[in-house]
Amino acid sequence: MKKHKIILDTDPGIDDAVAITAAINSDLIDTKLITSVSGNVDVDKTTNNVLKLLTFFDKNIEIAKGAEQPLIRHPVFASKVHGESGMDGYDFVNVNENLLSDHSAVHAMIHLLEKEDDLTIVCLGPLTNIASLLIAKPSIKEKIKNLVIMGGAIGRGNLGIYTEFNFGVDPEAARIIFESGLDISLFPIEVGVKARIFGTDIDKIKTYNQTGHMLYNLLSHYRSGSFDKGLNMYDLLTIAYLEDQKLFTMEEARVDIETQGEFTSGASLIDFTNNTPNAKIASDIDVERFTEWFKNAIKRCR
Ligand code: RIB
Ligand code: CA
Repeated sequence: MKKHKIILDTDPGIDDAVAITAAINSDLIDTKLITSVSGNVDVDKTTNNVLKLLTFFDKNIEIAKGAEQPLIRHPVFASKVHGESGMDGYDFVNVNENLLSDHSAVHAMIHLLEKEDDLTIVCLGPLTNIASLLIAKPSIKEKIKNLVIMGGAIGRGNLGIYTEFNFGVDPEAARIIFESGLDISLFPIEVGVKARIFGTDIDKIKTYNQTGHMLYNLLSHYRSGSFDKGLNMYDLLTIAYLEDQKLFTMEEARVDIETQGEFTSGASLIDFTNNTPNAKIASDIDVERFTEWFKNAIKRCR
């Protein structure tokens, strides 16, 4: 089966760490480049967190450091959820700095997109890098196969009343992406909450292997839910989708991003009745099959 070739744009972030783990150890995904962005924590920390994971798995994948802050706004961090480092809970012994590209994230993405076809960009954080890519080289759009994005909310948000974190940190970037005309599959917070993983399953992965032990320790420090109520696996859904689209119900919708609202900036207005859709929205998930997929994804790691 042909592998999905991806660029992974990320702000680890503990749920990002689970998604990165599944992606770089997948038989169905070829991760060509990882780009870091300011989001859950600052970009020095998110970059270092990607390096920790690549070193832990001994994966020789290029990582390019991205935006230090949103396009025009001040950064907003979520260290309350992910810890000061962005990946609290596990002591990663060393970091292979040689994997860090000399190029910026935008430069590295342009270089790769010009060289390779059929690339999917998986977006796990604020969309600053992707918007910057389209601003820097508008013609590069023709080389992007599609975007698979974790973000937005059909209803209530998790940063503001109607605002999800990734879109709320950089509303202007999100607006550029949804007005770009690119093929977008979107995974809003509602489906992430449905796909939450409970303590009983997290206790199991601890016993599988070194990866399960590492993720168990990270998830023990992740504050987006709890072991009893379930931990929200937002970012992981994008990787599950690439491996098995049948896990999801996808519905076309028009997504518009509010950038002017005093209380609503970053809100995603997702209209399933609109006849000019610009995205496919994951509106439901087969939770039982997803949970089994999650456990198998960990089992295949080191
Ligand atoms: O709202 C959830 C999203 O914001 C996830 O990507 C999480 O990692 C944070 O970036
Ligand atoms: Ca993220």
